[in-house]
Amino acid sequence: MKILILGNGGREHAIAWKIAQSPTCTSLLVAPGNAGTQEIAENLDLNPMDVEGVVAYCKDNRVDLVIVGPEAPLVAGIVDRLEEEGIRAFGPKQAAAELEGSKSFSKRFMDRHFIPTAGYSEVASQAEAQKQLADMALPIVLKADGLAAGKGVYICLTEADVAEALDDLFVKERFGESGKLVVIEEFMKGTEASLLCFCDGKHLYPMESAKDHKRIFDNEQGPNTGGMGCVSPNPEVTPAWMEQIEREILIPIELGFAAEPWEFKGILFIGLMLTSDGPKVLEFNVRMGDPETQSVLPRLKSDLVELIEKTIDGKLHKSDFDWDPAVCVSVVAASKGYPWTSTKGCIIEGVESCDELVFHAGTKEEGGKLLTDGGRVLAVSALGKTLDQAYEKAYKAMDKIEFEGKQIRRDIGK
Ligand code: AMP
Ligand code: GLY
Repeated sequence: MKILILGNGGREHAIAWKIAQSPTCTSLLVAPGNAGTQEIAENLDLNPMDVEGVVAYCKDNRVDLVIVGPEAPLVAGIVDRLEEEGIRAFGPKQAAAELEGSKSFSKRFMDRHFIPTAGYSEVASQAEAQKQLADMALPIVLKADGLAAGKGVYICLTEADVAEALDDLFVKERFGESGKLVVIEEFMKGTEASLLCFCDGKHLYPMESAKDHKRIFDNEQGPNTGGMGCVSPNPEVTPAWMEQIEREILIPIELGFAAEPWEFKGILFIGLMLTSDGPKVLEFNVRMGDPETQSVLPRLKSDLVELIEKTIDGKLHKSDFDWDPAVCVSVVAASKGYPWTSTKGCIIEGVESCDELVFHAGTKEEGGKLLTDGGRVLAVSALGKTLDQAYEKAYKAMDKIEFEGKQIRRDIGK
């Protein structure tokens, strides 16, 4: 099979690494990819958001399967267009991708199907927001309705935070169309967990749990990032929590999917808050997580191409999900200035001497040299029998990698 993966992050390198191991994959392409995918696949100069360009490439080059990494092309309807042209594609169609494309759509879905989540209301102007907020206690969470590259969430602890968020959203219109509608949410206290699930249109098949570390500094300090590290399984998701998640979250989602006019096929990423009141949904994403994928896929022993094909064909009940019981720790290295800015063009050294998995993100190869090319540069993923062992291995490998301004957290998996 000729397989094309869309995207250029660490997630896509991890997907490419796993797909390349499948005996059914005879040709692997990544668009646009990075310096890591270039070593195991052919990188294409193709923008995943250029839907018609991707469709034309696939038709002209007889691509058998397209795997969509990021959310934006899914929300733009790339799977609908590929299927119309008879090309198999992995990911939800546009109607179902709204679960990530619109917070309001996803909150209403959860409401209709009694899926536990934070209480909320929707507002379309600053005046309306102020009126709603007058009766609400702090802290409160404000979210731009549409896609905002992970930056559209404001956790407001004080009145000043609220004023700043409203100014950003309604006066500065920082998120353009995405911020025209704003969701106000009750603040939930608890521990976060990520659960990625295969969904074949009928049933959800959860992968092993993961814990994403979103803040830039150790001990969850500093601003949010795209994710500075990850651990799988999530140490807090005990079998008892998992049982409750299945009963109170996964089954209601399946019943909800069955009742909706659209169908969900692909990966549903459930962001969970484990609260004293039980598990609640923070958000849905309609693709794999980054850096969750870098911690979860190294533990998957089953053939990913087979699972993807069964997802598309609605036949996941005939699949075996075989997981390595080992713990995986993934540590991300970011470039100078991240998350405010990023630094490109710094020489990266030491990757070849790493014994662990290195998944590239913002990297490029130029004149035989490996260079930084974005905020999050790469991640090291290490498997261990215990969390401590995985931690030791991941940091031992990460310490061999050098580039100017390298930023890492020291507490991933600690
Ligand atoms: P989201 O993009 O919706 O996942 O939000 C990003 C981050 O904001 C989450 O990972 C949480 O840490 C935090 N967050 C979002 N919504 C809430 C909420 N209702 N209560 C507490 N924290 C939240
Ligand atoms: N790690 C969070 C995300 O992929 O959105």
